[in-house]
Amino acid sequence: MQLPEPRGPVTARLVEELVRPPRPLDAPPPWSAEPAVDDEDLQLALFVCYEMHYQGFDGVDDGWEWEPSLLGLRGRLEERLERALARTVPRPPVPAPRDVPRALAALVEEYDDGPSLSAFLRSRADLGRFREFVVHRSIYQLKEADPHTWAIPRLLGRPKAALVEIQADEYGGGRPGRMHAELFRATMRGLGLDDSYGAHLDRVPAVTLAISTTMSLFGLHRRRRGALAGHLAAFEMTSSQPNLRYSQGLRRLGGDAAARRYYDEHVQADAVHEQIAAHDLCGGLAAGQPHLTGDILYGAACALALDRLFARHVLDRWRQGLPSLRSPLPDAVAGAASGAGAGRG
Ligand SMILES: [Fe+2]
Ligand SMILES: [Fe+2]
Repeated sequence: MQLPEPRGPVTARLVEELVRPPRPLDAPPPWSAEPAVDDEDLQLALFVCYEMHYQGFDGVDDGWEWEPSLLGLRGRLEERLERALARTVPRPPVPAPRDVPRALAALVEEYDDGPSLSAFLRSRADLGRFREFVVHRSIYQLKEADPHTWAIPRLLGRPKAALVEIQADEYGGGRPGRMHAELFRATMRGLGLDDSYGAHLDRVPAVTLAISTTMSLFGLHRRRRGALAGHLAAFEMTSSQPNLRYSQGLRRLGGDAAARRYYDEHVQADAVHEQIAAHDLCGGLAAGQPHLTGDILYGAACALALDRLFARHVLDRWRQGLPSLRSPLPDAVAGAASGAGAGRG
């Protein structure tokens, strides 16, 4: 994956430094403005710092991963993300640990009042808009499950077994072609999109990056293991029905079975995963470590709130006749979905 184009002073500095051998970075100048979830420079800088723990970047020395000054910068960016999240996402009331599955279900329902992106994609979006949606999602879905995997060594017993059971499915149960990230690549190819890892990083706005950076924030800090578990539960609990609608939308637009398989797989799998995540993972974690209960709910709320912000962004842009990405997509290559010649959204 290529280093991205800078979006402000911090990312400009980062991409300039990271192509050199690892060495101490100067501290960034103090920030004046209050941090916001949709701050492009903040989200991209954090995304770049976190990516050093995933696949890294072409031409960037792997030694940067543990360079103390880069970790120091990451810590300062994380403080800003945490503050931005605190301003954006109200902390849900803390239930009794045994009531965690029920409280998660109530929270999901509470957040279900936002605009329905999946309903729009099912029945109204043209091929260009569907492709935009897939490009946004590719930022996470080409590394699907990885951020939540960080929690495995931090858990014990029932919640650990539950998380491993979910993750085993996400990673294809031993069959590389069944890995959800690989199924998603087939969806991208079916839509004539570049399916290589990170190919579309420059195109997606901060609100899309925030979904990924928040997961990595929760994943890379053991102290946030409760939030990470709740985050996964919220993902799984809001997946089955939207994925059915995405599949229906893609079928309407001429997508074949291979292109739709990612979505079809999630209709079934996540109906099971949501039970395991709410009851065994989050319920089990709260029972064993009751002090994490509040953070489990907060992690779920963050996932739901960010997804709502993302849906609002995309639908608002489309309603104004504008693309939801920062730069236009090349037209689909011949043979993609059908609907050849469909415009960009
Ligand atoms: Fe999945
Ligand atoms: Fe799942």
